[in-house]
Amino acid sequence: MPISDVRQVIISSTKQLAQNVWKATVAGQHYAIKLEKKTFLRMAGHPDNRDGWEMRLTDLTWATNLFLEICKNDRLHPWSRPLGGEELAFVWGSLPGNNVARTQLPSTLATITDFVPDHVDFSKCDQGKSHVCLNALLTGKGDPVSLHTLGRGLAVDLFLGNNDRYAYESTDGSIFVNLENFFLHVNPSGPNSIFYIDFWDPNSAYNSKNKFPTTIGPEYLGSLLSNDQGRMRCAQAISTRLSKLLHIQNVNVKGIAEGLKSGAADLGKFLRKDKNHPHISRRLVACGIKP
Ligand SMILES: Nc1ncnc2c1ncn2[C@@H]1O[C@H](COP(=O)(O)OP(=O)(O)O)[C@@H](O)[C@H]1O
Ligand SMILES: [Mg+2]
Repeated sequence: MPISDVRQVIISSTKQLAQNVWKATVAGQHYAIKLEKKTFLRMAGHPDNRDGWEMRLTDLTWATNLFLEICKNDRLHPWSRPLGGEELAFVWGSLPGNNVARTQLPSTLATITDFVPDHVDFSKCDQGKSHVCLNALLTGKGDPVSLHTLGRGLAVDLFLGNNDRYAYESTDGSIFVNLENFFLHVNPSGPNSIFYIDFWDPNSAYNSKNKFPTTIGPEYLGSLLSNDQGRMRCAQAISTRLSKLLHIQNVNVKGIAEGLKSGAADLGKFLRKDKNHPHISRRLVACGIKP
């Protein structure tokens, strides 16, 4: 259930999950609040407002909304919204162990997301029940639907240039896959799914709604979305990584590639309304997506 305004509800309990992530109970519902580690100083009137706080809030909002929009019909849909400024100041006092100084707070960004219980880190799925679940999901034998979810979310990552989940290796140009930012959700009473966290990569040069670079460097992964070969290359990178790490054979590479295609097509539909926005239209062209 989305919170319309976090300032109007009471946070009844909080528990620190990671250095910068908390589980919070707000009006009886469980959420995860994540402070972005990087803070962006608010520089009023600075000639280069690329790093300006307002712009980064716009970018964070855009990225989280794209994920929510594209994944809204998928089985697991952790509702999410950005927090900044006043709203963040409100929750700040409830976060135990928070090491962000009050003076830094106005330049800090955070997200609040549905808390997803019973999740397992991909890199820890190497044995037991979760390995059995993951094996079924990724080979498509148990559940091809989730493979689609995996591909659709990755399409948003590539489009946004998130290098947190995917990046080219500097050594040989192969695709690196970071397994820390998606999880297996082991559902005790129904089908299992895959879900994403970390919708926004603050370090990417390509994640800005209003500033898509004129010269697209080879590090931008979005162009891989434009053809079968590129999509297969991404799907294959995941498959190879999982096969090696978790000893899962016969990953349904084609299923992941189809999810990438379907996610890209949905991005095009959703962004049709923005097709005259110069930076968005250039990004769509770079990704070979027809609005
Ligand atoms: N929505 C969520 N539900 C449950 N746990 C979460 C959620 N979001 C984050 N976490 C927990 O917090 C940890 C760190 O989250 P993450 O967003 O990857 O932070 P960072 O990338 O800054 O380390 C995750 O490994 C996970 O255990
Ligand atoms: Mg992370």
